[in-house]
Amino acid sequence: MDWKKIYSDRKCTAEEAVKSIKSGDRVAFAHAVAEPPVLVDAMVANAAAYKNVEVCHMVTLGKGEYSHAEYKDNFRFNGWFTSPSTRKSIEEGHGDFTPVFFHEVPSYIRNGTFAIDVFMVMVSPPDEHGYCCVGVSSDYTMQAIKSAKIVLAEVNDQVPVVYGETFAHVSEFDKIVETSHPLPEIGLPKIGEVELAIGKNCASLIEDGSTLQLGIGAIPDAVLQSLKDKKDLGIHSEMISDGVVDLYEAGVINCSKKGIDNGKMTVTFLMGTKRLYDFAANNPIVEMRTVDYVNHPCVVAQSTKLVCINGCLSVDFMGQVVSDSIGTRQFSGVGGQVDFCRGAAMSLDGKGKNILAMPSVAKKKDGTKISKIVPFLDHGAAVTTSRHDVHYIVTEYGIALLKGKTLKERARALIAIAHPDFREELKVEFEKRFNAKF
Ligand code: COA
Repeated sequence: MDWKKIYSDRKCTAEEAVKSIKSGDRVAFAHAVAEPPVLVDAMVANAAAYKNVEVCHMVTLGKGEYSHAEYKDNFRFNGWFTSPSTRKSIEEGHGDFTPVFFHEVPSYIRNGTFAIDVFMVMVSPPDEHGYCCVGVSSDYTMQAIKSAKIVLAEVNDQVPVVYGETFAHVSEFDKIVETSHPLPEIGLPKIGEVELAIGKNCASLIEDGSTLQLGIGAIPDAVLQSLKDKKDLGIHSEMISDGVVDLYEAGVINCSKKGIDNGKMTVTFLMGTKRLYDFAANNPIVEMRTVDYVNHPCVVAQSTKLVCINGCLSVDFMGQVVSDSIGTRQFSGVGGQVDFCRGAAMSLDGKGKNILAMPSVAKKKDGTKISKIVPFLDHGAAVTTSRHDVHYIVTEYGIALLKGKTLKERARALIAIAHPDFREELKVEFEKRFNAKF
């Protein structure tokens, strides 16, 4: 097969490529740092040619213009996760959200539950054999390339080559658009005293030789900053950010005792700065695998001393954890939170721990503080991690172990780590809720 001929025959402009999209199609694209922005912009610019094109993906760091009200006859956003630029469409009623565990997305694509007409992907230039690398996001991308009726590829010479399940042949792309632009960068979130205290509390639950999964947000980074004195840590995580590079360079992370994939940081996508992308490029320690492997609870369960740490928005007295909605407002998605919580609970060595961490209070728009530990969930809030799945809740005030505890024991443990300004009123609520003395 002369791949160079295939490549040059299929090369075209972004404007031509998006003409492959037809009204009524379902279009999906690679997510987070791997989103192909030139193709997405060209699709939006061609909006007048489409009616009712459904647009699906996980996280977006992009503009999300296809989800804006002005395009509601051309595009219908249907998120598997929502982000700042796409959330509003759901509140306005013309956008949608589909709940799905991240590890199930490839099988949904494969079995037609999420049948894709057109998939848009960003890749590195081809190597000497005609293989391009999907770089920073293997997750559902590899399955979508295989299953979509049409694949549009944005070949960006700044996409790093990262090893693992990350290569697709140019013959798998129907249209090829050459671009050159840096990948989006997500710098370290602001880590204040509260986040550092939460990080220290989480770190106290992590033993030497543990395998870590770290979620999105300031807290996972604060945890990493508190692990400088640990030894032989490993990574088996949906995503990693820059903090992992510091610990690897300090010799704290060496992946030597993981139980599976020893010697490798197993991840499904990367989200950080150029420093992380440069670290991952051509680096045999970074192993990108698809999300149906990395996040599958049965795979996660094989890790040694797995500790998974994820953020959450609110927890009720029973330990029901809300992480992806604020009342009826769809804020994000489950992502891999439950995949890892369940994997940790099923751990074959019996040492897995799942931790949901959050500051004890949130600030409302008018500046007033509210407790994130509540007697009852807000009207319309969706439970992300159930009371049956959760092990630990951590705030800046301490650690509440919920696993194996009664409802009253859970509520007492949670009130003990609530913000002191709210503890008295929570105790009163406890007595009403349980018809018992605190
Ligand atoms: N009630 C009302 N508003 C609340 C709230 C509550 N109980 N808790 C938080 N908020 C507000 C905050 O004030 C903040 O508002 P702002 O954007 O106006 O500043 C906003 O909600 C986000 O809260 P924050 O604590 O800053 O969130 P974060 O960026 O640290 O992310 C999650 C936390 C839970 C949203 C995020 O981790 C998530 O989406 N998790 C689900 C998916 C997941 O865990 N995947 C894991 C594998 S990657």
